Amino acid sequence: MLLSKKIAVLTGVNSGIGRKAAEIFAQNGAKIFGVDVRTDCMDELKTVIEGYGSEFVGCQCDVRNVEDVKAALKKAYDYYGKIDIMLNIAGVSCDKPISRISEDEFGRVMDINVKGVFNFCKYVTPYFKKQKHGVIINTSSITAICGSGMGCPYPASKAAILGLSKTLAFELAPWNIRVNTVAPGVINTEMVSALDPSARKTFEKSIPLKHMGDAADVANAMLFLASDMAKYITSANICVDGGYRPSTVNL
Ligand SMILES: NC(=O)c1ccc[n+]([C@@H]2O[C@H](COP(=O)([O-])OP(=O)(O)OC[C@H]3O[C@@H](n4cnc5c(N)ncnc54)[C@H](O)[C@@H]3O)[C@@H](O)[C@H]2O)c1
Repeated sequence: MLLSKKIAVLTGVNSGIGRKAAEIFAQNGAKIFGVDVRTDCMDELKTVIEGYGSEFVGCQCDVRNVEDVKAALKKAYDYYGKIDIMLNIAGVSCDKPISRISEDEFGRVMDINVKGVFNFCKYVTPYFKKQKHGVIINTSSITAICGSGMGCPYPASKAAILGLSKTLAFELAPWNIRVNTVAPGVINTEMVSALDPSARKTFEKSIPLKHMGDAADVANAMLFLASDMAKYITSANICVDGGYRPSTVNL
């Protein structure tokens, strides 16, 4: 198993890519400490993960709140005795034209998508430095590279994650801490379920592989990066997008 005896902290586990990553990591031997601001699906996820012979501890935490983040990481470390993998998946989207985006909304997207990732990277690092190893995987988006038809705070926040992660990869390499990103394209989760059927068709036509990805496609890229198969990979970004280039498509 690729993650045998590894302890993974995952944000955004209550749904979508985070939930699927928790399952796939557990199937590959990792024990899971799952964080989310919502907890309604965590009991059911715990049962599923225990069914794989692994362990799941759930924790309510708003990634924007430093005290929540510090407490979650301490709880994970105290419970499992170490943390090997930090997977930042929690995020929110935005799909309005700039004329309808308020300052508060811009701030909310940046706070959750950027400051939330910064918080977990900052406060997991002392544990990783003490252990002299650790893996951080942050979730960007293909829109960080190509832009999008609208919803500018979202690509802006996801581009910030690329810069943050590349810098941490260099800064933390002396402690054997690897930092990489995954940039999903259009993935069939709650985040895109609001699309009407015609917008969905437009999307699918514009994807070279002609269909949306699913959460497992993204989670499998994360699994590779978290495993020792990627032990010489840091500062990398893997696009999981079926070849999709979104800047020409309006939502
Ligand atoms: N679905 C896609 O097409 C797509 C494409 C590119 C990137 N992504 C990125 O992948 C990640 C997961 O997306 P998803 O599609 O699974 O979305 P999702 O909405 O299904 O899951 C996001 C999770 O983040 C949690 N979350 C939101 N705000 C939070 C906060 N303040 N504190 C803690 N948890 C919070 C939510 O409760 C939810 O469980 C996001 O970062 C998203 O930007 C998704």
